[in-house]
Amino acid sequence: MRLAVNVDHIATLRNARNEGSPDPVEAALLAEQSGASGIVCHLREDRRHIRDNDLARLRESIATKLDLEMAMTPEMQSIALATRPELVTLVPEKREELTTEGGFAIKAHHPQLVEFIRPLRENGIGVSMFIEPENEAIELSLAAGANMVELHTGRYSLVTDNDQRSRELERIRSAAQFARSAGLAVVAGHGLTVSNIAPFRDIPEIEEVSIGHAIMARAILIGLPAAIREILDLIGR
Ligand code: PXP
Repeated sequence: MRLAVNVDHIATLRNARNEGSPDPVEAALLAEQSGASGIVCHLREDRRHIRDNDLARLRESIATKLDLEMAMTPEMQSIALATRPELVTLVPEKREELTTEGGFAIKAHHPQLVEFIRPLRENGIGVSMFIEPENEAIELSLAAGANMVELHTGRYSLVTDNDQRSRELERIRSAAQFARSAGLAVVAGHGLTVSNIAPFRDIPEIEEVSIGHAIMARAILIGLPAAIREILDLIGR
């Protein structure tokens, strides 16, 4: 299992002073040196953390793969086509939310989604749908032309009761198996931490986990390489 590291929160900290430090690109390079297999950033409509120039610099600098998380808007489609990340992850986006709160409402957007994804795929960009771990959303992702799904682990990360957590994990496992058997690549993310990631090691269908907040929060205390190492050890890498 691989680890992709989201550097949005480095930009949040940088923007708190609106100066150059800390630099999300420097963090991305350090993350790669520390064992990350990919770098993730979310260019939001309001540019509250990552900015256009960060995205351009990430594209120029990183050596692994760039996963651009974005909303399904014409502006973002043009930016993706100009930037050519290896992967675009389509996420729902609400202006007021603190983070991406739920999976993409794929059924409601299906006809537009097909048209949105086509030029990305035709230009060699992989497309992943950030969805709830449900079979219908997986089938719709495939039908829309995506080649990957990212299963939303938010519910799993929030439950406190052990039985409920086991049920959520089984929901993710079963969705991962279904997506894999349908020919989609499978990743998982949202709310994963050193305390809840270990069981993912036993879901071989999930090839990568995408982690942002927990790694950056730990990095402030123990440093980015050590925070990444902790996760890599837990996922057996
Ligand atoms: N994957 C996607 C699609 C996301 O939108 C986010 C949150 O930005 C993450 C993964 C990472 O979530 P977290 O910051 O909770 O690790």
